Amino acid sequence: MEDILELDRNNIPQSIAIIMDGNGRWAQERGLPRSSGHIQGVENVTRITSECARLGVKFLTMYAFSTENWNRPEAEVEVLMQLIADKLEDEIFMKNDIRYRNIGDIEKLPPSSRKRMLECMENTKNNKRMTVSTALNYSSRWELTKAMRDAVREAQAGHIRPEDINEEYVSQHLETNFMTDPDLLIRTGGELRISNYLLWQCAYSEFYFCDTYWPDFHEEDLHKAIAAYQHRQRRFGMTGEQVTKG
Ligand code: IPE
Ligand code: IPE
Ligand code: MG
Repeated sequence: MEDILELDRNNIPQSIAIIMDGNGRWAQERGLPRSSGHIQGVENVTRITSECARLGVKFLTMYAFSTENWNRPEAEVEVLMQLIADKLEDEIFMKNDIRYRNIGDIEKLPPSSRKRMLECMENTKNNKRMTVSTALNYSSRWELTKAMRDAVREAQAGHIRPEDINEEYVSQHLETNFMTDPDLLIRTGGELRISNYLLWQCAYSEFYFCDTYWPDFHEEDLHKAIAAYQHRQRRFGMTGEQVTKG
């Protein structure tokens, strides 16, 4: 792919998180039911996953269903759940040496979706090239609340003291404890918000928002997002001079 030439291969974000938004509007603008937008959206997950693997991304974490999405019409929720059970295939992961994980509460998912996800996690657990995670039935507030509850339980049981709770402890008690924090957070679909996604983990992520609906967000759009990332200076609280001097 030609666009790759513009990218600095030594500065590919190692961890990318995506809020895949705009499936519904993509379909509605074509006079199609929202569900066909979700079907196209799933196709695009495969496309972007392959491209991230090719570019050398290590963690790709994709927001697929928030805890708030249960409030959508029942039929739409059903379609989304069915798509997970039907479309989550090991093939793309095995072909690309990708480990599959999920962040979020899978206990609340329909048994067929949960079963498929658990199988896929098990079958791909030894793959090494990249980890792709879906965030399904996920929200950051749910995750942080759960971590606080766990900490209190451990403290009450006498396993930890309050002073043992530090940033490392918190990170380790989040759903994302197997990955590095996102270097780059992409949101498609034009909204400028993070909708309860990775609030702790995105403390120093670079944000990239674009109007393109998720089904239309193809390889060249990913390249544009990465190119924008490569033009940023990440300062982590320091001065620009300190960062340049290394
Ligand atoms: C994102 O697309 C997919 C999910 C939230 C499941 P939307 O379904 O939110 O699409 P819009 O925002 O309505 O266009
Ligand atoms: C965020 O999209 C969740 C996912 C992409 C799965 P939404 O479409 O649910 O977000 P809001 O409601 O517009 O903030
Ligand atoms: Mg939306």
